[in-house]
Amino acid sequence: MAETVCAECGGSGWRIIERDEASGAERCPCALAARIGELEDGTGLPPLYGQSSFDNFVLPQDNPTANAALAQVLLLVKGYARQFPATDKPGLLLIGEPGTGKTHLAAAALRAIVAKGFEGIFFDYQNLLERIRSSYDAASGTSDREAYRKALDAEVLMLDDLGAHRVTEWVEDTVTALITYRCNQRKPLIATTNLPDPDAGFSVIQRSEHSPGRVDYRTTLADRIGMRARSRLFEMCRVIRMPQVDDYRIRRMR
Ligand SMILES: Nc1ncnc2c1ncn2[C@@H]1O[C@H](COP(=O)(O)OP(=O)(O)OP(=O)(O)O)[C@@H](O)[C@H]1O
Ligand SMILES: [Mg+2]
Ligand SMILES: [Zn+2]
Repeated sequence: MAETVCAECGGSGWRIIERDEASGAERCPCALAARIGELEDGTGLPPLYGQSSFDNFVLPQDNPTANAALAQVLLLVKGYARQFPATDKPGLLLIGEPGTGKTHLAAAALRAIVAKGFEGIFFDYQNLLERIRSSYDAASGTSDREAYRKALDAEVLMLDDLGAHRVTEWVEDTVTALITYRCNQRKPLIATTNLPDPDAGFSVIQRSEHSPGRVDYRTTLADRIGMRARSRLFEMCRVIRMPQVDDYRIRRMR
């Protein structure tokens, strides 16, 4: 197939501009388009979320309260992507129940940011931890080590389902190291979790399922990732609590 050569720059990626009697070179828009195409291919987003956008995020029509609450969240996430990179808090943390659209919205934000020319990488938290762990095996390939490097260094890191892993000291240390590094470098992180946090307005006690009249303590974000990582996360992220809406995975089937 014959490639069409850009008429503006003849394929060099640079074009000459004349301004105030001086001439200089600037990047041709075609080079930026090619760069964005590469960035979009490189996000590592799983196919289920590869097309997630703000436009195909559907608000519930049967429940005005849920509709308004979810519309508000959509607006906040859109605002985050539009203002990116914001100077106050560079990251985004979405907290809420399963199926409320956290990963969808986070992926939509990541894609919107990548479309502006930033490098964004998706990692599933559990999968990333496994890859980091296996990178310590002598037999492991370089791809696992590279995964950790990417998670540290990518301009924007999306970490999906934060804390979805049993607690070990090793996990806590690894997550703290990753978040501390990114926080110190002021590198944005977009994270989702369904673990409650009292500072995000969640109750961490619930009525006991086993003994009536008693309460159970719910596992919190801090329980899973440690106090230090959790503290830095709140420092660097706009924290958004998902409203109580029906699980979309079930809503979709109705
Ligand atoms: N409001 C919505 N409009 C359109 N699609 C949605 C909406 N909410 C969720 N979805 C879709 O439903 C599926 C589940 O949503 P998603 O994965 O974002 O939920 P989640 O909050 O991340 O859940 P979990 O906590 O289990 O990870 C996805 O395919 C997502 O694209
Ligand atoms: Mg999710
Ligand atoms: Zn060109």
